[in-house]
Amino acid sequence: MGRPKVLVTHPLFPAARAILDEEFDTQYLTPEQRRSRQEFLSQVADKEGLVVLLTEKVNEELLVATPKLKIAATVSVGYDNVDVPACTKHKVVATNTPGVLDDTTADFAWALLMAVSRRVLEGDAWIRSDGGWQGWDIDQMLGTDVWGKTIGIIGFGRIGRCVARRAYGFNMRVLYTGPMRAPNSVEENLRAEYVEQEKLLRESDFVTLHVPLKPETRHLISKDALEKMKRTAFLVNTSRGPVVDEAALVEALEAKKISGAALDVFENEPTVHPALLGRRDVVLTPHMASASVETRTKMAVMAANNVAAFFQGKKPPNTLNGDAFQWQ
Ligand code: GLV
Repeated sequence: MGRPKVLVTHPLFPAARAILDEEFDTQYLTPEQRRSRQEFLSQVADKEGLVVLLTEKVNEELLVATPKLKIAATVSVGYDNVDVPACTKHKVVATNTPGVLDDTTADFAWALLMAVSRRVLEGDAWIRSDGGWQGWDIDQMLGTDVWGKTIGIIGFGRIGRCVARRAYGFNMRVLYTGPMRAPNSVEENLRAEYVEQEKLLRESDFVTLHVPLKPETRHLISKDALEKMKRTAFLVNTSRGPVVDEAALVEALEAKKISGAALDVFENEPTVHPALLGRRDVVLTPHMASASVETRTKMAVMAANNVAAFFQGKKPPNTLNGDAFQWQ
C-alpha cells in the first residue's frame, strides 16, 4: 500500500510542507490550478486527504468528486467554506485551525479601530500627495479619541475576549454580546459587561464583530442595526463579510448615520462595494487580520498535523464533526 495521497491547494510554508511530505504522497496546486475550480476538481479524484484555504469550498460537489476522501483540513478558524454535515454524510472528517490566531486577529482589529478613528491612512495619503502637507496646524486631521470610550464586542469567543483584554489598556468600558454569557470569572477578569445587542449598538463608540458566519449571523449588522448605532460610532469587521449588509452600510455612511467603518472582510470577496472605495471615512484591508508570519505558519502546521494525526489512526485535534466517527 502506497502512502496516502494528499492534495494541498497552496504550497503553504516549509514547516507545514515538512510534516506533509514526510508522511504523504503530496501534490501542491500551482497558482493557475488554484484559480480555477474546474482545474482543482480535476485533480482530486484519487485523493484521501485535502488541505484547503478558506477560499475553497468543501461542498457536495467536491465530496462527490472525491470518492476516496477521508479528511478535509481548512487552514482557517472560520469554516463557512466547509459544509460539515455534507462531510459527515460522506464520512469525511473536517478540521479547522482554532486558537492560534486569536491574539493576532485581535491586534489587527485594534489596528483598524485606531486607524479609522485617528485617520491614520488619511494622514499617510496626505503626506504622500503632491503639494499636500504644508506644516502643522491646530485643527488638522482631527479624529476621535479611543481611550476612555465604550467598545462593544459582538461575539465573545476567543478572539472577542482578546479584543476585550486590550481595551483595558485604553481605560475603556467594555460591553459584549453573543449567544452565551461568559462565566463570571471571565467578565471580572476582562471587566466586560454582558448586554443585549440593542443596548450594545446604542451605547458603543466602537462596535467590533467577532462572530462566525452562520445563517443567524448573516447581515447581523443590518440597516436596522446601523440605525441604532451612535452617529459618532465606528464599525470594525474582522469576522466575515456577509455579517454586515454592505449596501446598508454604504447607505448609513452616506447618510452620516455612523462616523466610519474599518473592514478587513467583504460580502463578495475579492469584490468590494464600489461606493466604499472612494470614501475617506472607511479603512479597507484585504482579509489580512491573521496575516503575521508566525500565525499563518502555525495555522498551516496545525492543518498539516490534523491530517497527519488522522492517518496515524488518531482523532485530529481540531475535528469539527468528531461525534460522527468512531476513533481507534
Ligand atoms: C480567517 O479568516 C480565518 O477564518 O482563519
